[in-house]
Amino acid sequence: MAADRLAGRRAIVTGAGSGIGAAVAARLRADGARLFTADVKGAVDFTADLAGAGANAELVARARAAMGGLDTLVPCAGISAFHPLEGHDDGYFLRVLEVNLVAVFRLVRDAVADLKAAGNGRIVTIGSTTSSYGDDGLCAYAASKHAVLGFTRAVAAELGPFGVTANCVQPGAIATPMTAPAFAEMPQYRSFWENKASLRRLGQPEDIADVVAFLVSDDARFMSGHGVWVDGGAMARH
Ligand SMILES: NC(=O)c1ccc[n+]([C@@H]2O[C@H](COP(=O)([O-])OP(=O)(O)OC[C@H]3O[C@@H](n4cnc5c(N)ncnc54)[C@H](O)[C@@H]3O)[C@@H](O)[C@H]2O)c1
Repeated sequence: MAADRLAGRRAIVTGAGSGIGAAVAARLRADGARLFTADVKGAVDFTADLAGAGANAELVARARAAMGGLDTLVPCAGISAFHPLEGHDDGYFLRVLEVNLVAVFRLVRDAVADLKAAGNGRIVTIGSTTSSYGDDGLCAYAASKHAVLGFTRAVAAELGPFGVTANCVQPGAIATPMTAPAFAEMPQYRSFWENKASLRRLGQPEDIADVVAFLVSDDARFMSGHGVWVDGGAMARH
């Protein structure tokens, strides 16, 4: 892609220490965007538990100061683990909602003035195919990802008059550190997703990052409020 496709963009990418977030950061940087990255671990500009109260406000303030402004948000930080409904404890359910949903809400809220002022703001959230469907043992995760899609659509509606677009990328099964343990422990789960995808493979983080870069770019200027499956055609075979 052209090295200047995203020139002038100033973006926060969370979850940039690993997997999809790291690939998104690399893609946006390669396309000419300025970035301020965050994660609880890894080589990022701001290290914090983004589910903590005040963490996103501090992230936004630091990013604004470092880049002289802010017009793009790509919150990729997320957690997932299998927990059957029976015996599912409150703490883990709430933690998943805090990281996958509430932290995204806080980031967008705390940056809303910057995005409005930019006139061409971009928000790309990371949902999941479980933003549209359920999956065994993933009640907390699916609840959080359904909610992120709904949140994104509400934001698109509210901020559209200010030139801000908001879309939710919904990855299928992607080979990252998040999915590696489940795929290693349950090879049949890996095969299930490889075979479910019309393209008959797992996704790579770059498969998601390239679509995020498109949604941030001017090419996607009239696209807002969408949930976009980037799943190798898995849901086409549902
Ligand atoms: N891998 C997949 O198959 C898949 C599918 C659908 C959606 N997703 C979503 O994509 C996003 C990225 O996932 P990934 O697969 O790259 O996983 P990953 O584990 O490789 O990366 C997630 C990153 O988020 C960070 N993070 C987690 N909790 C945090 C917190 N409280 N504060 C700050 N940082 C935190 C982690 O440290 C990690 O670097 C997540 O939102 C995930 O739900 C992944």
